[in-house]
Amino acid sequence: MLPKLIKYILTETPQSQEIEIYGWVRTKRDMKNLVFVEVNDGSCFSNIQCTFDRGAGLNAQTEETLVSLTTGASVKINGKLIPSPASGQAVEVAAFALLVLGQAPAETTDDIQGYPLQKKRHSLEFLREIAHLRPRTNTFGAVARLRSHMSYAVHRYFKERDFQYLHTPIITAGDCEGAGAMFQVTTMEPQTIAKQFKAGALDGGIDWTKDFFGKKTFLTVSGQLEAETYAMALSRVYTFGPTFRAENSNTARHLAEFWMIEPEVAFAQLEDNMALAEDFLKNIINSVLEECAGDLAFFDAHVEKGLIDNLKQVANAKFLHITYTDAIKELEKAASANKGLFEFEPRWGCDLQSEHEKFLTEKMAGGPVIVTDYPKEIKAFYMKMNDDDKTVRAMDVLVPRLGEIIGGSQREDNLEKLCSRLTGMGMKPEDYWWYLDLRRYGTAPHAGFGLGFERLIQYVCGMQNIRDVIPFPRAVGHAEF
Ligand code: 4AD
Ligand code: MG
Repeated sequence: MLPKLIKYILTETPQSQEIEIYGWVRTKRDMKNLVFVEVNDGSCFSNIQCTFDRGAGLNAQTEETLVSLTTGASVKINGKLIPSPASGQAVEVAAFALLVLGQAPAETTDDIQGYPLQKKRHSLEFLREIAHLRPRTNTFGAVARLRSHMSYAVHRYFKERDFQYLHTPIITAGDCEGAGAMFQVTTMEPQTIAKQFKAGALDGGIDWTKDFFGKKTFLTVSGQLEAETYAMALSRVYTFGPTFRAENSNTARHLAEFWMIEPEVAFAQLEDNMALAEDFLKNIINSVLEECAGDLAFFDAHVEKGLIDNLKQVANAKFLHITYTDAIKELEKAASANKGLFEFEPRWGCDLQSEHEKFLTEKMAGGPVIVTDYPKEIKAFYMKMNDDDKTVRAMDVLVPRLGEIIGGSQREDNLEKLCSRLTGMGMKPEDYWWYLDLRRYGTAPHAGFGLGFERLIQYVCGMQNIRDVIPFPRAVGHAEF
C-alpha cells in the first residue's frame, strides 16, 4: 500500500495509533533535549514537524541517525500524531524512530558535491541551473502543483461543455502561423544534405523527397489547422499539447517549447469566441482560487503582493473589448499627451509592442482587454476577412504584467477568399489542399483560439520568468536536463 501523504496527515485529528511519515528533510533544529525535523513530501505546501524528545528516551540507533541527519535526506519517521503546542500548525508528530532512506551530504568532497539546496534563499537563476532539484524548493513545488491542477481544470472545463479532446500531430508539414519560426525534423545526415546542396538538387539545393517523410517536415507551431478538421465534424474540440517555436527571442515570456490549449468551435463567430475565452480564463482562475489556496497564499505573500485580490477582481470583471483601430487611437492620444511615453510610436498597421499592451491593460483598462479586428498584414492567412478588406476577425486577449496571453480568430470559411489570401501571401494553395477541402465540403462559420499554458500559469501565480513555470524550459541556448 502507498504511504499516506502529509497533506492528509496534517488535516487528521490526533489519535493514539502510530503513524509513518515519508518525505525529504527540509530543516533540522537540534535544541538539547528536543530535535525538530521538518519533513515535506510535496503533496502540499506545508511541512510536517516531527519532534524527537531525548528526554523521553531515544534508542541509540535513532540518536545516532538524528545527529548525522542533513537537509535533503529522504526519511521514514515513526511516531504519534499529537496536537501541536507551536503556532502555525494544528498537529505535529511525537517521533520515536527515524530511518534514513537516502543521504544528502552537505559537505563537498572529492567525489560528490554537497547537496546544493541548503536552507537559505536561492536565486531563481541559480535554481534554473539545477532544474532537476528545484522541485524540492517551496517555490517550485508550488508551481508544479499549480500547473498540475490547472491542466486538470482545463480538461474539466472542456469536458463539462462537450468539447472532445483531440490529439494533433507534433510533426507536421505545414506552417500554421506562416511565421517561419519552425524546427525542421529530418533524418537526413548533414553530409548528405551538404552533398546534395553542392549537386544543386530541388528546393534550395536539397531533395527532401529523399527524407524520412518524403517531404520537408517540422515540429508543429500550432495544432489549429488539424483541430479545424475535427471541429468540422465534431462541432467542439480542443487540443492541449506541446508546441514549438524557433523564435530567437530571449525574453521572460517566450519558450522554444511550450504547451498550448486550442479550442475550435463550429457554428461560432468572433463574438462567441471572445465569450468563450473570457469564460474559460475566469473558470480556471476561480478553480485555482478555490482549490489551490495553500499554494496561492505563498505566491501572494512572496512572489506578487496582492495577487489573490487581483485574481478575484479579474474573475468578476467584464473584459474590455476594443478594436485594433480604436486601440491605436487611444495609444496615439496617450503618446501625444505624453512625449516619450513609448519607445515605439504606435502606428496603424504595426504590431502592438509590449509597452503598448502594457498601456492598454494597466493604464487604460486596469484589467484584461480583448483587442479585435487587426490589419490583415500582421495576422495569419486563415483569419476571416472583414468587409473593409483591410482588417481580419482576429482577437488577442491581453492581460496586465504579461501582455498577450491568447491569440485567436474567426476562420475564413469562404474557399475563394481563403485561396486568394494564400496566394496574396505568397503561399501555395495546393500545399493546403486538405485544409481547403473543409471549405469545399460542408463549410461553416467557425472560430477558435490558442492560449499559451505557461503564460496563464505566470499570470495566475505571478512568476516573472516563463522559464520558472515549466519543469524543463527549452529556450535559445538552453536544453539541459
Ligand atoms: O498567437 P499565436 O501564435 O496563435 C496561434 O498559434 C493560433 N494558431 C492559435 C489558434 O487560433 N488556435 O499563439 C497563441 C498563444 C499566444 O497568445 C501565447 O500565449 C502563446 O500561444 N505563445 C507562446 N508562449 C510561450 N512561448 C512562445 N514562444 C509563445 N508563442 C506563442
Ligand atoms: Mg499571437
